Amino acid sequence: MPVVGEHIGEIARRFCRHMFANHPELLDGVFNRGNQAHGEQQQALAGSVAAFAGGLVSTPQRTPEHLLKRIAHKHASLGIRPDQYQTVHDNLMWAIVDVLGDAVTPEVAAAWDEVYWLMANALINQERGLYSARGVTPETVWRKWEVEKKIKETPDVVTFVVKRVDDRLVTTSLPGQYVTVLIDMPDGVRQPHQYSLTRADDGEHRQFSLKRVRDNGEPEGEVSWQADLDRRARQSRHSRSV
Ligand SMILES: Cc1cc2nc3c(=O)[nH]c(=O)nc-3n(C[C@H](O)[C@H](O)[C@H](O)COP(=O)(O)OP(=O)(O)OC[C@H]3O[C@@H](n4cnc5c(N)ncnc54)[C@H](O)[C@@H]3O)c2cc1C
Ligand code: HEM
Repeated sequence: MPVVGEHIGEIARRFCRHMFANHPELLDGVFNRGNQAHGEQQQALAGSVAAFAGGLVSTPQRTPEHLLKRIAHKHASLGIRPDQYQTVHDNLMWAIVDVLGDAVTPEVAAAWDEVYWLMANALINQERGLYSARGVTPETVWRKWEVEKKIKETPDVVTFVVKRVDDRLVTTSLPGQYVTVLIDMPDGVRQPHQYSLTRADDGEHRQFSLKRVRDNGEPEGEVSWQADLDRRARQSRHSRSV
């Protein structure tokens, strides 16, 4: 464990690079490319497997399920499917061997394999529970919505009020819940982003606000930049005049 922990940054980097090279479809509507470029999210998945292993060592009598709730909610918000766990497994195990080389004896590999599947099966179960509680499947978590209103709250914050266009009522939400919105980017890639809900339920609408991410030494946020259509219109008028 300490050896994996020490190299977790490099394992996470190689895992992501390898998985997205083999499965470019995961960068269209599943993983968020801004988060990937930023780097923090790369650490999250591999790092949580290492943290889970730590929990198993300190309290072997129980699976550290409490570490999983937040992850299961994020996965369910994205429509992650049980069969995708094999892809993550293969690429993560590949990265561990690629970084640690001969240190990964068959015994070590079998131990990490066991940790991974303990965690994966617990997540798959929690996610199955979340999907069935809402009467959806990973394929039907996505719905089309119509933007009914866009309210410019401040120069940097835009509120979206969206209305359902299908025949499923909008289910009640709890404080702290969020939605994942899939946004079509100009290059054809769909970017999933989460937004906290900001209005009580009425069975018809959802409401959320986007704050623009400015370029504090890093690239501007691509979706929050798009959300400010007034600015986009100004820019395209400017481009035409150029
Ligand atoms: C549970 C949850 C709830 C949320 N609720 C809200 C909400 O209510 N309202 C809201 O506005 N946001 C919310 N967010 C954040 C939101 O989902 C987006 O992550 C955020 O708006 C940034 O999106 P973006 O398109 O502006 O940035 P992105 O383009 O996705 O970029 C993300 C970050 O990566 C950096 N980055 C991009 N490319 C690179 C690169 N090449 N190198 C280095 N860094 C790079 C950007 O500077 C930025 O800091 C929530 C997130 C979560 C997880
Ligand atoms: C045991 C296996 C897995 C573990 C331990 C794991 C762990 C995590 C963690 C810790 C996060 C961050 C949660 C947060 O931000 O709150 C995350 C997010 C995510 N996971 Fe998993 N995950 C696993 C399997 C999968 C699988 C199979 C997929 C689908 C291919 C997947 C896709 C994602 C996506 C798309 C995100 C959001 C990342 C982003 O914003 O770009 N994960 N996961």
